[in-house]
Amino acid sequence: MSCSLRPVGRAQRARLERLTAATGLFRPEEVATAVELLDASLAGDDDYRFLGAYDGDELIGYACWGPTPGTLGTADLYWIVVDAARQRRGIGTELLKAVEERLSADACRLIVVETSSRADYAPTRAFYERRGYARVATIAGYYAPGDDLAIYLKDLRNGVLARTAS
Ligand SMILES: CC(C)(COP(=O)(O)OP(=O)(O)OC[C@H]1O[C@@H](n2cnc3c(N)ncnc32)[C@H](O)[C@@H]1OP(=O)(O)O)[C@@H](O)C(=O)NCCC(=O)NCCS
Repeated sequence: MSCSLRPVGRAQRARLERLTAATGLFRPEEVATAVELLDASLAGDDDYRFLGAYDGDELIGYACWGPTPGTLGTADLYWIVVDAARQRRGIGTELLKAVEERLSADACRLIVVETSSRADYAPTRAFYERRGYARVATIAGYYAPGDDLAIYLKDLRNGVLARTAS
């Protein structure tokens, strides 16, 4: 499915909140955090950058990332969300590629993604793995008993980006 990628503005704030909540994966406080990061970004905080995927004027997905504080050339992908009704059509891949291209242009070396080991995150983990991210660490029980933190990593210098670009 073709979509256009553009910045996320204040006008998309409510839609971004709805999209995030509608995934059914995130607790209300996590949804609130996504909106807080957008507010910080719109207020000029360069630690949080947003890119939106649009169908016409409608926001149908977004990614949020930023440089990891205290590192040289490492970035965190904080959020990537696609409208539940439009998943598995390549939109998440387009967003991820665009984030990687921006980070490569900024001489970023490593992209780190944190996600959950829960069964309902299996499609999310498959998404990262299919896009060249390696699971490099697990912290058992991090989020809750039985809900581990899974840390994924992509090294942009290894040409992984080029290999997954097709
Ligand atoms: C993860 C997410 C952003 C991917 O976006 P998307 O537009 O569906 O992704 P794409 O269509 O580009 O890629 C789909 C890939 O994801 C994986 N995937 C997505 N849904 C899947 C499912 N139901 N079952 C298995 N794999 C799935 C597959 O690896 C698939 O690749 P393939 O089609 O080549 O097999 C989207 O599913 C989403 O918003 N999920 C909920 C929110 C979330 O988990 N965000 C990340 C944590 S912050």
